[in-house]
Amino acid sequence: MPLVTSKEMLLKAQAGGYAVGAFNVENMEMAQAVLAAAQRMGAPVMVQTTTGTLKYAPPGLYAAMVGALAGQAALPVAMHLDHGSSLELAQRCLDAGYTSLMIDGSLLAFDANVALTRQAVTLARAVPVEGELGTLGGKEDALEGSTLYTQAAEAEAFVRLTGVSSLAVSIGSAHGLYKGEPRIDLDRLEEIRGRVSVPLVLHGGTGIPEETIKACIARGISKINFATDLRIAFTGAVKAAMRDKPDAFDPKAYLSAGRAAVEARVCQLIALCGCEGKA
Ligand code: 13P
Repeated sequence: MPLVTSKEMLLKAQAGGYAVGAFNVENMEMAQAVLAAAQRMGAPVMVQTTTGTLKYAPPGLYAAMVGALAGQAALPVAMHLDHGSSLELAQRCLDAGYTSLMIDGSLLAFDANVALTRQAVTLARAVPVEGELGTLGGKEDALEGSTLYTQAAEAEAFVRLTGVSSLAVSIGSAHGLYKGEPRIDLDRLEEIRGRVSVPLVLHGGTGIPEETIKACIARGISKINFATDLRIAFTGAVKAAMRDKPDAFDPKAYLSAGRAAVEARVCQLIALCGCEGKA
């Protein structure tokens, strides 16, 4: 079916007490793998590209690729801009056919974040916008930061003032790999959940223990982002294929190994999110 927006799938997840998996892709093989996994699992899915990824290839290429894959599948698939850095990039993604946007004003002061995010909501019209309040630790592409937890009262005001369709919160997760066990503030999540009506998003899914992911979903997370996890799966399998067949020169020989590894991993993550069979 054609690409759908993320609005309905996230509201359904919120009502149903599960999370939609949102997977960052870099290339055709990773996009194919995510769609194949979602199809195998009968799951709604969000495919996303960061600002850094969109410097590697333009939004039109990713939207066309994922749109074509979605057209061959009987699943709700949303194409999402992850950590959109500017209104200009948001507009380019809208023009390219993205059906979901994040605008990341989390490094700005509260009022400036509200102003930027509200402009994105106006620009996007029927396309849902994810905002972020509080900052995550860790590193992803050009983004690097330390943790600044989301305050529940501010989150409530932010959603009211901006009209976002979903909200990314900072509760102790981080982008990239954790040094030691992440300490997720579940009480804070519960407090935010109690004051905010829109679906809540957990960034930095890679490396969070499974039990903690489940606890986050039980306390109201409706979308979980996974990026590093897929990059590791893809690159690890490509390296292994090159080691096994050092004389191979057809890219299909090793890229297909990366694709298979990502598909297997995404199936596990979809099961973890509880969205298997929810398409
Ligand atoms: P990880 O790379 O830690 O999985 O984080 C992904 C993410 O939050 C993308 O926005």
